[in-house]
Amino acid sequence: MDFKEIIQDIYKNVKAIEDSGALPTYIPDLAEVDPKKFGVHITTMDCQNFGMGDCYENFSIQSIAKVLSLILAYKLIGAKTWERVDVEPSGNAFNSLLQLEVEKGIPRNPFINAGALVIADILLSELKHPKAEFLAFVRDISNNKDINYSSKIASSEKKVGYRNIALCNFIKSLGNIKNEPSDVLDLYFDICSLEMNCKDLSELFLFLANNGKKILGQDQILTETQSKRVNALMQTCGFYDESGEFAFRVGLPGKSGVGGGIIAIYPDKYAIAVWSPKLNKKGNSYKGMKFLEQFTSVTKLSIF
Ligand code: DON
Repeated sequence: MDFKEIIQDIYKNVKAIEDSGALPTYIPDLAEVDPKKFGVHITTMDCQNFGMGDCYENFSIQSIAKVLSLILAYKLIGAKTWERVDVEPSGNAFNSLLQLEVEKGIPRNPFINAGALVIADILLSELKHPKAEFLAFVRDISNNKDINYSSKIASSEKKVGYRNIALCNFIKSLGNIKNEPSDVLDLYFDICSLEMNCKDLSELFLFLANNGKKILGQDQILTETQSKRVNALMQTCGFYDESGEFAFRVGLPGKSGVGGGIIAIYPDKYAIAVWSPKLNKKGNSYKGMKFLEQFTSVTKLSIF
């Protein structure tokens, strides 16, 4: 299949659509990003690489990084991970506090903020130098060894992170945060501040299309079963209370971030990353969703 021509056509179509999304204002520095940015990059299992637009420009991957922190925690403590976070879609906003009280501090899944805070807590308990070791883990999987945190974005979010502070303290009171909430929050904000471009993202996540194994170098990052489980979580929980809609319209496991990025995986075939900063009402990239919907429709490459 000629992905290049298909991507060029869809990119042109979607670029021309009026963007009815909005920049996130609750993280001040993200509200400063140029809303017209639009990049896309695909990496396939048979080594095709193709990108368009702003695909080489770094952006804040935000919640997409929650897949990587989950993977590291899962490697460290295995199935015990699921004693601390559940594997069910929440049907609520990504930063909701609603279910935690009734569900006794066990977040519905590792991708809502509550779940990602618990995952950060696991990393703090398991690693000597969590911030450095998490970054080293990401660089190790990636082809780009310069991937880094943005201290500017992390501190911009930290200054006004009242909701996450509330979530973390609440879970602590319910017994599912073991470390000091301020340390957990610092690590969480750093993880969310990771920056990379669409090319980095599609290359990095390709191992999830390959049963957990890197294409080059043959490193097994996750076992086949673990990789299946992470893809299943992305499918059912990757877009919060829009996960059903993403499955309905796009039909691939994926993960979004409030920086406007989306990564999606077609097992055994490809990983594709899109970046467009304006978000729909559920906090997912407006044009990113549109692009992927057209892409899986035209190529007929969705898992359904
Ligand atoms: O904690 C937050 O609210 C952000 N650092 C991450 C949220 C996010 O990316 C949600 N994704 N669509």
